[in-house]
Amino acid sequence: MEKLTILGAGTMGHSIALSAAWSGQTPTVYGINEQDVANADKGLAQKLAVMADNGLFDKNEAQEIRSRIRFTTSLEEAIQHATFILEVVPEKLQLKRELYKQLEGLVDPSAIIASNTSGFKPSLLAEEMAHPGRFIVAHFWNPGHLIPLVEVVNGEQTEVETTKRTMALLKLMNKKPILLNKELPGFIGNRLQYALFREAQALLDAGAASKEDIDAAVTYSIGRRLPVTGPLMTADMGGLDVFSAISNYLFEELSDDQRSGEILSQLVEQRKLGDKTGEGFYNWEPEVSEEINRKREQTLIQFLKNDLEQEG
Ligand SMILES: NC(=O)c1ccc[n+]([C@@H]2O[C@H](COP(=O)([O-])OP(=O)(O)OC[C@H]3O[C@@H](n4cnc5c(N)ncnc54)[C@H](O)[C@@H]3O)[C@@H](O)[C@H]2O)c1
Repeated sequence: MEKLTILGAGTMGHSIALSAAWSGQTPTVYGINEQDVANADKGLAQKLAVMADNGLFDKNEAQEIRSRIRFTTSLEEAIQHATFILEVVPEKLQLKRELYKQLEGLVDPSAIIASNTSGFKPSLLAEEMAHPGRFIVAHFWNPGHLIPLVEVVNGEQTEVETTKRTMALLKLMNKKPILLNKELPGFIGNRLQYALFREAQALLDAGAASKEDIDAAVTYSIGRRLPVTGPLMTADMGGLDVFSAISNYLFEELSDDQRSGEILSQLVEQRKLGDKTGEGFYNWEPEVSEEINRKREQTLIQFLKNDLEQEG
């Protein structure tokens, strides 16, 4: 079994650790300081409680899962016995590259270094590494303990063994890894997500409908089908002649904006950043935030329960 170390205890770091521990791994998590670790610990407790309340496991098991996760604020200690290091630090190219250089001076070349980057190409991240063959991208989705997909992306020099070990670890974590055939910025999931987000922004900027109705047009239509059939299978079921005919007149009408839309840019300028600042496209009063987050978490847990049931 790989000895997993997760570098970064933030939004993704601690939720991925939870996912690993739930599957029986004993991850070590590095946080930059005591406050960082305390936040992660609090986040873990909240997530475990919600998972237990929703019947994924009982309270005793929740405690056992928590006891498998070890935190440290010492980088050296975190990676001491690691065979698989998952980097989950902020999305800054040079910060990540410097960290890999530091790690390579400390760990054996057989240890894998994987990045949870949201979209940097692995070859770009590994450019300054002495052993790029051990480097790979493993892109988890937020919340990392509830979303099954992990996108695995090889760089130009990633060794076959690195890919094999990464896929094996992710399967052991009960994730649904997909291996891309080529490296592309944004991989697959974010390219699809941002194609939808670009069009949603363009519709909002054009005043085509209210934000509520634009969101409803997704959640009550394609959103209902997408958990069952992806866009290509959906087209097969609708008839490819129909989907092709529509593509042929509609594509030229769709947004090809190269930057964030007007409304989004204004909101960001005003530091209205969504849930975390209390206002974004929507108002996020604490009670509203709590309710929507709970509803989303419960729905994601229900999906996971369905997966577990179907897999027997
Ligand atoms: N948040 C998301 O929705 C999401 C989803 C998928 C992938 N990602 C990717 O995961 C990575 C981490 O994102 P996040 O949202 O968890 O970030 P975050 O800011 O919540 O956490 C980052 C963590 O990295 C560590 N850290 C912070 N500064 C550091 C430094 N200077 N040196 C070393 N470690 C440092 C800390 O432990 C911190 O908690 C990014 O590459 C991001 O693009 C994020």
